[in-house]
Amino acid sequence: MTIALITGASSGIGTVYARRLAARGHDLVLVARATERLNALAGELRSAHGVAIEVITADLTDAAQTEPVAQRLRADPPIDILVNNAGAGLSGGLSHADPVALENLLRLNSLVPTLLTAAVLPGMLERGHGSIVNIASVLALLPEYSHGIYAATKSYVLTMSQSLHAEVVSRGIYVQAVLPVATRTEIYDRMGGDISKVPDVMEVDDLVDAALIGFDRKELVTIPPVPDAADWDAFERARMVLALGFSNSKPAKRYRS
Ligand SMILES: NC(=O)c1ccc[n+]([C@@H]2O[C@H](COP(=O)([O-])OP(=O)(O)OC[C@H]3O[C@@H](n4cnc5c(N)ncnc54)[C@H](OP(=O)(O)O)[C@@H]3O)[C@@H](O)[C@H]2O)c1
Repeated sequence: MTIALITGASSGIGTVYARRLAARGHDLVLVARATERLNALAGELRSAHGVAIEVITADLTDAAQTEPVAQRLRADPPIDILVNNAGAGLSGGLSHADPVALENLLRLNSLVPTLLTAAVLPGMLERGHGSIVNIASVLALLPEYSHGIYAATKSYVLTMSQSLHAEVVSRGIYVQAVLPVATRTEIYDRMGGDISKVPDVMEVDDLVDAALIGFDRKELVTIPPVPDAADWDAFERARMVLALGFSNSKPAKRYRS
């Protein structure tokens, strides 16, 4: 029996991951702030699937509350799947942003997935297997569509996933970055938005089921709404064509006059 730890399991995408992974027979560690919701989900999944469930209440914008989650990731019995899902948005642009809100968003969306990954990796590498799923966003690739720093926090998650994949894939570790499109969850209400104004919203069950198909196929990057995988391959090829220029030790001719 393997164990998955899911951050942000109390609603939305994280709750559906918990339901699907429990249905697959994984024991779970559920993390979020809303203890009652986590306990209710734990009860539901224990009786539906007979799996063992631990609950950790933590505000992941608080370093002291994040540490017990990191400790659980280092402890036994080992965590085989880490789903870095907890995240939030922040309305408004950067020009009038509250510094505390900016720091909290950077911590929750970018720093915490980094620290939790660093906590779980050594054990996974020692065991020679493990999976790390990072929930990014299509906005990682479309920063112009989002004011403020949300897209940048998600670009970070995508870049970290790609670097980590390069570092550990040959040592038995699977890394997946999932890039959801607009998905019907509580995230819009929480940031004072109105989901009814968002066109083409994906249902959360569909999003997670697609992400898990990408997981089973060991995709590095899963973008559920994109119809043709060749489009991502073409995007990656274009990146590598650009990178050919990075090997020049002198500035390009167009910058010499
Ligand atoms: N929905 C979309 O359109 C969409 C699109 C692209 C990417 N995403 C990403 O998907 C992930 C999941 O979001 P969602 O759409 O499922 O939204 P959601 O329903 O609002 O769920 C967010 C989860 O994160 C937890 N969380 C928020 N702040 C936290 C904190 N300070 N400490 C600990 N946990 C915290 C929440 O639990 P508590 O409130 O109980 O702490 C909740 O379980 C996020 O990373 C989000 O950026 C969502």
